[in-house]
Amino acid sequence: MASETLAYPKRLIEVDLPIRKISDHARREKSIRHGHISTLHIWWARRPLAACRAVLCAALWPDPVDPLCPPSFISTAQEQMDQFWNAIDTGNYHLDDPLEVRRALLDFIGDFADWDHTIDERYLTTARALTEAAHIALGGEPGTRPLVVDPFAGGGSIPLEALRVGADAFASDLNPVAVLLNKVVLEYIPKYGNNLADEVRKWGQWVKEEAEKELAEFYPKDPDGATPIAYLWARTITCENPSCGAEVPLIRSLWLAKKTGRSVALKLTPNSAEKKVDFEIIENPNTREVKEGTVARGSATCPLCGYTTPVKSVRAQLKKRYGGAADARMFCVITTRANVLGKFYRIPSQRDLDVVFEASKELERRKRDWKGEPDIVPNEPLPIMSGVFNAPLYGHNTWGSLFCPRQLLTMVTLVGIIRKLRESINEKSDFNTAILTCLAFSVDRTANQFTALSKWHNGREVVDGVFSRQAIPMIWDFGEISFISGDGSYLDNALNWILLNFEKGKYSSTDSIYQADASNFILPDDSTDAFVTDPPYYNAVPYADLSDFFYIWLKRMLKETYPLLFSGELSPKKDEICEMKGWDPIRYSKKDNKWFETKMQKAMDEGRRILKPTGIGTIVFAHKSTSGWESQLQAMIQAGWTITGSWPVDTELENRVRAMNSAALVSSIHLVCRPRESPEGSLRTEDVGDWSIVLKELPPRIHEWMARLSSENVVGADAIFACLGPALEIYSRYSRVEKVSGEIVSLGEYLEHVWAVVSREALATIFKEADTEGFEADARLTAIWLWTISTGNGENGNGEGTKSIGYTLEYDTARKLAQGLGAHPEQMPSIVEVKGSVARLLPVRERTEYLFAKTARATPQKVKAKGHQLTLDGDSIEGTYIAESIAEPTSLDFAGNTILDRIHYSMLLFATGRGDALGRFLKEDIGREPRFAKLAQALSALYPAHSEEKRWVDGVLARKKSLGL
Ligand SMILES: C[S@@+](CC[C@H](N)C(=O)[O-])C[C@H]1O[C@@H](n2cnc3c(N)ncnc32)[C@H](O)[C@@H]1O
Ligand SMILES: [Zn+2]
Repeated sequence: MASETLAYPKRLIEVDLPIRKISDHARREKSIRHGHISTLHIWWARRPLAACRAVLCAALWPDPVDPLCPPSFISTAQEQMDQFWNAIDTGNYHLDDPLEVRRALLDFIGDFADWDHTIDERYLTTARALTEAAHIALGGEPGTRPLVVDPFAGGGSIPLEALRVGADAFASDLNPVAVLLNKVVLEYIPKYGNNLADEVRKWGQWVKEEAEKELAEFYPKDPDGATPIAYLWARTITCENPSCGAEVPLIRSLWLAKKTGRSVALKLTPNSAEKKVDFEIIENPNTREVKEGTVARGSATCPLCGYTTPVKSVRAQLKKRYGGAADARMFCVITTRANVLGKFYRIPSQRDLDVVFEASKELERRKRDWKGEPDIVPNEPLPIMSGVFNAPLYGHNTWGSLFCPRQLLTMVTLVGIIRKLRESINEKSDFNTAILTCLAFSVDRTANQFTALSKWHNGREVVDGVFSRQAIPMIWDFGEISFISGDGSYLDNALNWILLNFEKGKYSSTDSIYQADASNFILPDDSTDAFVTDPPYYNAVPYADLSDFFYIWLKRMLKETYPLLFSGELSPKKDEICEMKGWDPIRYSKKDNKWFETKMQKAMDEGRRILKPTGIGTIVFAHKSTSGWESQLQAMIQAGWTITGSWPVDTELENRVRAMNSAALVSSIHLVCRPRESPEGSLRTEDVGDWSIVLKELPPRIHEWMARLSSENVVGADAIFACLGPALEIYSRYSRVEKVSGEIVSLGEYLEHVWAVVSREALATIFKEADTEGFEADARLTAIWLWTISTGNGENGNGEGTKSIGYTLEYDTARKLAQGLGAHPEQMPSIVEVKGSVARLLPVRERTEYLFAKTARATPQKVKAKGHQLTLDGDSIEGTYIAESIAEPTSLDFAGNTILDRIHYSMLLFATGRGDALGRFLKEDIGREPRFAKLAQALSALYPAHSEEKRWVDGVLARKKSLGL
């Protein structure tokens, strides 16, 4: 017998959410820096505040239309909405109708997500009044606030917004750097506000002055008064041509500045006597004067003899020298002059080199004199992780090796000054700790720019930090910033970025900030009102390993201040939830897919345990692969969560250069969920679902949802994954779903059905009213494929004029989508090529041999085309790919079978200027076949805007029209 079920009103997020508005604000926010917490310190893949704020309001506030919605909340909502909207003169809501109250609330949520409203008092007071009213109406003690818990708090976006909208926040993370970030954002900034800002500014200036005293001699001005702001360095190797043996500087590009109206380049002149090159600076050269760099794809070409030392040897040579940063060769000094605009480039003088030598000596002296633990220069190991940490492959095998000697001297000096400050203050004072922590952040933040992996950007003329990517990639030449460069020194910058955060610090503070493992959580049962979190996305970001870059410096400054956080050699890895084996099968041999699933399930178990039975959960997730999704969903279902809603929020930068030919994933999905529990809090285990009913419910639900998504401009891969929410709403309503035979339907089996239904529904949206059954499998597969990689704005093109190299999808995804359409990519070699885990939809040009009865056997000439091999996450792996030129048919007879073949055949006739043949074919063969036109029109809409295929199919359609067909 089923036990009594829980009754509670739905929250707004379980009925509706203005996702388009929120997405617009979230995207815009990504380009905002002033005062945004992302400038406090790097944390990878932060959630936009806009999305967090909206989701929190909608999760905390009940739906006024729900019959169970407490009247007290409805009346507060009416009052607040009346006041709010009337004040800005758009009060066209009839608030005695609950539907209108809901509309007013959702409009409010959509507007509040705007960055410009972050500290707008009208929004803040309204939101806080609603949060309070909701909390009390739902049974909260008067005078208390609802508790929002985020056990994967990272950079702190979710708890910060929880505080902003009037809730209490509990923020924890396994990672010490994240915990410290949360301390500053959630505790110190709101607690001490401007007082803290003033002290940090004052002491920041002191740190800088102290450092300048110690470092001035190592960053001297030029004799003519110019101020060096950066030094460019090249790692070197010895040319392996046995008859040469010259020193080869590894330089990727010889352009030093490349701006309209002003450019500067480097010229390499062979110096055979000394077996090396000499450098020369050329101002405003013409393009032909500037040679290629010496290194391409890791192989180095000697400017003296032209011999190319292969990548393997380059690697072996650098490996022996710990990456070669410490003995790199300086090739340029960039300076500024008082009262003269712009930057000046000169070659290094002997004095520049002498100073560096002195800096190395000083560093050695400090190393010798240092008696403490850990070593003054970070010698903690830097691991190799395939595809993400490749600098260690070249010998950068300690964190300290990422810095050249003068950079190390600077970092060591700064660390020493912070330590000195710490020893001189009363450490018992929480306020002093706050100051010290902010200052330590300004120092470790600087380190990002101060490494031998920091790149000189010749367009913007600045040094970019290591973490312009979520990785530790090797680079050949690097930019060393001068610590003392007059105005806007790096430390000043770092400090200013931190201080800007105080301007937006209008929220209450919390001291519930802990280092904790989400899968073994520290809160008691049923203690939480909302479990809102953004857990690690399967194998998207190796947070702990990345964070060690900062951990090693923070530890050296703050280990006495936060002994628990910095007790380890490096940040804790063992319990980090992430599929890591793919990157590092040795260190992380256990952390495979299964491990992720089990560990994530424990975290989801814990979330349900700490949540009140009537509480609400929201889990953010995004992943490019169907398997990543399946692991996450499996964990949630197993843990006893019922999915009650799901919302995609698009967070990509609007102006981001779209990856081409890819299925770019721009949305993350917010899965709304509830504990599947009985009123007293026990997990319900006897709600058995009937498989046939579940199956019947699925297609109409997906149908309705796809229409909504498309009206919100969510298409392609984003729409596919966004359908998982509603699909799971049906399945996860039950403790288990059974077939008539009593056999339990696994999530895996259910999802196979879901993919099938989703792809059929997507196909129906593509062909609108046309009967999709009428198209053959190849047409259906092609259509769904192109749709999956589309983004709704026609920007996923090949780029004008480039030759098509096909469209790739992860094979597993392609297979799952295809099967619902009765197609099997691996059995369709005439349109799909499967290679390992990647499947490529062949470009039409590669189908010539297949489509023409007789084709010249001569190997089709391969033309190199700059292209992108693309993956579902929109990462483009740039490179040169081979696009075949169109093979030469010796007979124009059609040799295909299907309508798609006929269209492609016509496109090729058009592409090769065989107008007569095209006219004849259209007239005689298929011009009157309605499916031809339908499919051709669909393809015209699906092929990327600038692709050659789009041009060709439009050409065919125009021709057909001109023939009156
Ligand atoms: C997607 S991020 C959260 C980002 C955050 N929402 C933000 O906006 O910055 C996931 C976080 O989970 C943390 N994490 C991974 N495994 C964990 C575990 N077992 N317990 C707690 N936190 C963990 C990582 O350190 C990372 O900060
Ligand atoms: Zn040589």
